[in-house]
Amino acid sequence: MKKKIILYRDIPAQERLRLDEQFNVTFFNGINEDNKDAFKAALADAEGLIGSSTDMSPELLDLAPKLKAASTISVGTDQYNLAYLAKRDIPLMHTPGVLNETTADTMFTLIMCAARRAVELSNMVREGRWTSNIGEALYGTDVHGKTLGIIGMGRIGYAIAKRGHFGFDMKIQYSNRSRKPDAEQDLNATYMEMDELLQTSDFVCVMTPLTPDTERLIGAKEFAMMKKSAIFINGSRGKVIDEAALVEALSNGTIRAAGLDVFEVEPLPGNSPLCKLDNAVLFPHIGSATAETRLAMITCAVDNLINALNGDISQNCANQHLLNR
Ligand code: 8YV
Repeated sequence: MKKKIILYRDIPAQERLRLDEQFNVTFFNGINEDNKDAFKAALADAEGLIGSSTDMSPELLDLAPKLKAASTISVGTDQYNLAYLAKRDIPLMHTPGVLNETTADTMFTLIMCAARRAVELSNMVREGRWTSNIGEALYGTDVHGKTLGIIGMGRIGYAIAKRGHFGFDMKIQYSNRSRKPDAEQDLNATYMEMDELLQTSDFVCVMTPLTPDTERLIGAKEFAMMKKSAIFINGSRGKVIDEAALVEALSNGTIRAAGLDVFEVEPLPGNSPLCKLDNAVLFPHIGSATAETRLAMITCAVDNLINALNGDISQNCANQHLLNR
């Protein structure tokens, strides 16, 4: 008898076939008000979950008494409560590694767009407002040779630093829960406390996971520590920063500009004050959004669920440190 699982986002046919070969699959193309009741009903018999971009709260998962494993198609795990899952001896599998380089490319795209005002000036051309040579009022900021501060030197943070060091001769500094000898040796990165990083960096890039310790990590106090010429990049999660404080900092010149791929509310509402700021470059959470990388993530997540439901959580288990296994 095939185990029952729920697939809660669409995936390519060849990966869906791999799930169908192993499991009895109930599919939801995203969870919304129209199908939420059916999803809750399906949880009653589900032994596995695979998908992304849906908050899987403890209250919701209390409706899944037979759940044996969950597999998120993401490296971020904040849509699940790891401790709750561990208490039920449920591994949460995720997709670290496969998206590092693509996400780092996206973060550097934000760095370049925010530094050189690329979106603002492209829109000026597109709207027929380019009427004379670009003068001082529209100058951008150099990236090469500047200081790049990374808050959260994980795999993606390292890939961003690699681009800065080798590609743009940038001075790399970082703050992190632990020292990263590889970044210090390979990229000449300097470890420092976050406050010093905020005060001395030309570019500040936040790449931490969203945890109770990092929620609202960066707010008005931290923005005020930054240089007035500084550019802030967020590729972590929207709730790692105080978004209203960032709007204030961008509006009153506390910092020069920002590049954001994540927001407190996603999709970002069109009436967000961020949408009115020329010095805010806004991406729709496209960190890992290339065909190659998303397929690699989905393939990894499918492998993870098959392995976990066969009792193998040796690779890519996000809460293994909490499980008594
Ligand atoms: C997407 C991400 O949210 O992996 C993550 O944690 O934030 C992004 O890759 C994810 O891939 C959902 O599709």
